Amino acid sequence: MRDVTAPPRTNALDNAASFDAKADNVFARISQRYDQLCDVFSLGIHRLWKRRIASKIVQSPGAVVFDAASGTGDIPLRIRRLLSRWPHEEKIIVASDICPEMLAIARRRIAGGEPSLTIEEHDAHDLRAVASNSIDIYSISFGMKICRREQVLAEAFRVLKPGGVFFCLEAARITVAPLHALYLAYMDWCLPIIAWVATGGDRSAYNYLLKGVHEFPDQQTFAGELRQAGFESVGFENLTLGIVAIHEGVKPRSL
Ligand SMILES: C[S@@+](CC[C@H](N)C(=O)[O-])C[C@H]1O[C@@H](n2cnc3c(N)ncnc32)[C@H](O)[C@@H]1O
Repeated sequence: MRDVTAPPRTNALDNAASFDAKADNVFARISQRYDQLCDVFSLGIHRLWKRRIASKIVQSPGAVVFDAASGTGDIPLRIRRLLSRWPHEEKIIVASDICPEMLAIARRRIAGGEPSLTIEEHDAHDLRAVASNSIDIYSISFGMKICRREQVLAEAFRVLKPGGVFFCLEAARITVAPLHALYLAYMDWCLPIIAWVATGGDRSAYNYLLKGVHEFPDQQTFAGELRQAGFESVGFENLTLGIVAIHEGVKPRSL
C-alpha cells in the first residue's frame, strides 16, 4: 500500500456521477442482469478487484463488517467464501443497499451459508438505524462514485468504532497519463455500444458509469478527502495499473 502524504487538491466532495437513487431506479431495472453487466463492462476483471478488497477485509481484525451499496451481495459473499477456507475469528457481516430489488437478489444468493449474513436496506448517506461506534470494518465498492462522498464518508466515520477500518473500491486514474486517456477513449466509444446491447438500450446504466469514471477524483485527491473526513493512516492500492483503487483509512482511537 502506498503512503499518502500529499495534501488534498480539492474540497469538492461531490457525487461524481450526478446520480440520485431516489430519482432514477436504474438499479431496480437492471437488477436481474447486474452481475452479467459487471462481467461485460469490466471484461470480467471486476472479479479480481472484488477478491482483493474481500481479502483485505478478511485480514482486518474486528467482528462486525458493514458493506454499503452491496448490490447483489458480491463483496459480502466473497468475504464469506474466504472466511470459510481458514479458521477465523467470528464475523458478523451486514450487506446493505438502498435498492430493494438488488437486495432481493443478494438475499437469494446468500441463503444458507456460514457465517451468517444479514441484509439491511440503508441509504449510505443516512445510516440513522446504525448506532455510532458500532462497526469494525466498513466497506463500499463501486458505490462511492454515485453518492455524495462527503456525506457517505461522514456516516462511515460515525458508525465505525475508534480503530475501525474503512475500505473503498472505486474507479481511479491509471498512473500513466496516455494510458488513462486511451482507457477513457475505450470507455467513451466502445462501452456505449456494448452496453446498449447488453442493457436492451437502458442508457442510464452506462451513462452513470461513464460520468462517474470521468469525474471521480484521482487517488491522491480522494485520499485527501478521507483525511478531511477524519480518517488517519490513509493509503491506497492501485489495481490493474490504477483503473481502480482500494482506499483505506482508520478512525482514530482517540478523538
Ligand atoms: C455499481 S453497484 C455496486 C454493487 C456492489 N457493491 C458491487 O460491487 O457489485 C452500486 C450499488 O449502489 C447502490 N446505491 C446507489 N445509491 C445508494 C445509496 N445512496 N445508498 C446505498 N446504496 C446505494 C445501488 O442500488 C447499487 O446496488
